[in-house]
Amino acid sequence: MIDAKDAILNRRAIRAFKADPLSDDQLREIVRIAQKAPSWIDSQTGRVIIVTGDKLATMRNHHQRLNEDPDIHTNSDVPFIPIADWDQASQKNMTTRGATGPQIFGADSWNQMKSRQSALLFNAPAVAYLTLPKGYAPWALYDLGALGEAIMVAAQSLGIDSIPAFEFIKYPDQLRQALNVSADYEFILGIGLGYADHDAQINRVNAPRMDLNQVLTIIK
Ligand SMILES: Cc1cc2nc3c(=O)[nH]c(=O)nc-3n(C[C@H](O)[C@H](O)[C@H](O)COP(=O)(O)O)c2cc1C
Repeated sequence: MIDAKDAILNRRAIRAFKADPLSDDQLREIVRIAQKAPSWIDSQTGRVIIVTGDKLATMRNHHQRLNEDPDIHTNSDVPFIPIADWDQASQKNMTTRGATGPQIFGADSWNQMKSRQSALLFNAPAVAYLTLPKGYAPWALYDLGALGEAIMVAAQSLGIDSIPAFEFIKYPDQLRQALNVSADYEFILGIGLGYADHDAQINRVNAPRMDLNQVLTIIK
């Protein structure tokens, strides 16, 4: 068990996992710890569905086929916002982060690597889907973000790696069908969980953070 500071600092998005599975006990422990995340008047609106084993293997195959079909596009419950529609400062960060992979590997092999791993759902042995009831209050989205970070930090503290990804919830209608979830629930984000494949080149990429002074203002 490592402390909170190290768990936060060590966490990074992993895009290639080893096949080693996680036990139900490990998955339950991660979410049990993360449930301590705060929420508006303790509303605890978010629900977590974890998929693993044969079910995830089937869903991974299906995801791969959907990604390969040029006629199928994302229909995510939370809309996909193209980079050009974000504010200028965020756009700059996104292009810098996106450039780290191409800088290391060259644009073509980076794009190939990333789309292959995305289609495979990064080979994560477990995926935690974060859901909210349709018509949720905006504060519930804030709370779900806190729950998501708590899941990843809790996992890290137990030696388990993760990636938060839009990729997991790109096709929510198919997820609702595969997981027998009613249309009353929206799939907001997925978190892949497992053990990083440290030999995989794609995991060499890291994302720089802005200078603290650009993010923080202290006023006295
Ligand atoms: C809401 C959200 C969606 C994301 N979606 C994806 C994704 O679809 N594919 C991907 O490779 N990474 C995805 N990421 C991971 C981010 O790219 C990553 O967290 C960011 O670059 C910072 O890097 P770090 O997590 O390694 O510190 C997502 C992260 C968040 C928070």
